[in-house]
Amino acid sequence: MARNDLAKAKDAKKDEFYTQLADIEKELRHYTEHFRGKVVFCNCDDPYESNFFKYFAMNFNHLGLKRLIATCYNGSPVQGNELLLQFDTDNPEEPKKIAYKIEISEVHDANGDGAIDLADVRYLLQNDKNAISILKGNGDFRSEECIELLKEADIVVTNPPFSLFREYLSQLDEYGKHFIIIGNVNAISYKESFRLIKEDKMWLGASIHSGDREFQVPEGYPLNAAGCRVDEHGRKFIRVKGVRWFTNLDYKERHEDLILYKSYNPEEYPKYDNYDAINIDKTADIPCDYDGAMGVPITFLDKYNPEQFEIEALGIVGSCNFTCMKKMEILDKEGKSTGKFTINAKGTLYRKFNPKVDKVPAFKDVQTGELYQSIYARVIIRKKQ
Ligand SMILES: C[S@@+](CC[C@H](N)C(=O)[O-])C[C@H]1O[C@@H](n2cnc3c(N)ncnc32)[C@H](O)[C@@H]1O
Repeated sequence: MARNDLAKAKDAKKDEFYTQLADIEKELRHYTEHFRGKVVFCNCDDPYESNFFKYFAMNFNHLGLKRLIATCYNGSPVQGNELLLQFDTDNPEEPKKIAYKIEISEVHDANGDGAIDLADVRYLLQNDKNAISILKGNGDFRSEECIELLKEADIVVTNPPFSLFREYLSQLDEYGKHFIIIGNVNAISYKESFRLIKEDKMWLGASIHSGDREFQVPEGYPLNAAGCRVDEHGRKFIRVKGVRWFTNLDYKERHEDLILYKSYNPEEYPKYDNYDAINIDKTADIPCDYDGAMGVPITFLDKYNPEQFEIEALGIVGSCNFTCMKKMEILDKEGKSTGKFTINAKGTLYRKFNPKVDKVPAFKDVQTGELYQSIYARVIIRKKQ
């Protein structure tokens, strides 16, 4: 799968991508009924700059929340930029080094304009000192005090640091929490995520199925990054491809059937050599009359209805769902020998080279001399009866 901006962010440990309010609103409107009487926890969120906190503070009464908790990690480079913290500490000059939490159970219309808006949230942050308290540690979501808060929460909603996504998800699973989190589509192939998806304990959210989304990045973020823009206030934004919401809260649209109209024929849908399934290159091409296993692109999960299909395995390089025991020679772009070999390739699906559709073969079985193409990323599914 192509490396994209969030994947690079993972390598560089640049975890500071700030989600836009409009993107949060577009997703969360699908879950309104889940929030009534609930405790929401945003555990990677500096309330002064997180739009997740702002969204829940502004919609506190509308959603009927019981409580809203946000914890701020002290490693955030943009922490405290928007509004100055007003702690009564010995050294008020150093507010940026403090990890803190904000906990609110009531939001008033502070400016009396009849609506709860950003001005009210600002007022609340600046004036309701009872709501804000300093954490003992650094606000790490894995710390004991943050785990205690997690235990109190019903629903966790945030954009967690991408480099810690696996750990983050495992923790939510361990404590059995409901969640709506945003991350990269590549996270589907993580062992932890795929198991949850396969068992229908996690699915993709409702609002993002393609394209890219804009995130705010810290001031020091390199401007040469593709898709970077600076707005009239000097704030930097970057466009990120492959973004998805991950959740275990149900929404109506994910139970809608995918309309299938194509018919199966063995020519168009060849079987893999190392897995008993047919290959399908586009989700829309899933045949309506094939009942066996089918390998479909990962983006099938954007349309996945668990009443229509079941998920069997993940065919992606490195995944441990299955292996190919053959010794294969890797061929170059012209289909010529490279002298490099692969054996027991995990998760890689092979299908026979077909000169009618393939320009050049990519692999040669060392024992039989047969030529192959490899299909890198497929979810193996079956129609439910
Ligand atoms: C991708 S940013 C998203 C921020 C915010 N949730 C939003 O979407 O606007 C991830 C945030 O997690 C914070 N963070 C990094 N490591 C953390 C950790 N171990 N525990 C808690 N927060 C962490 C970062 O400082 C950063 O603010």
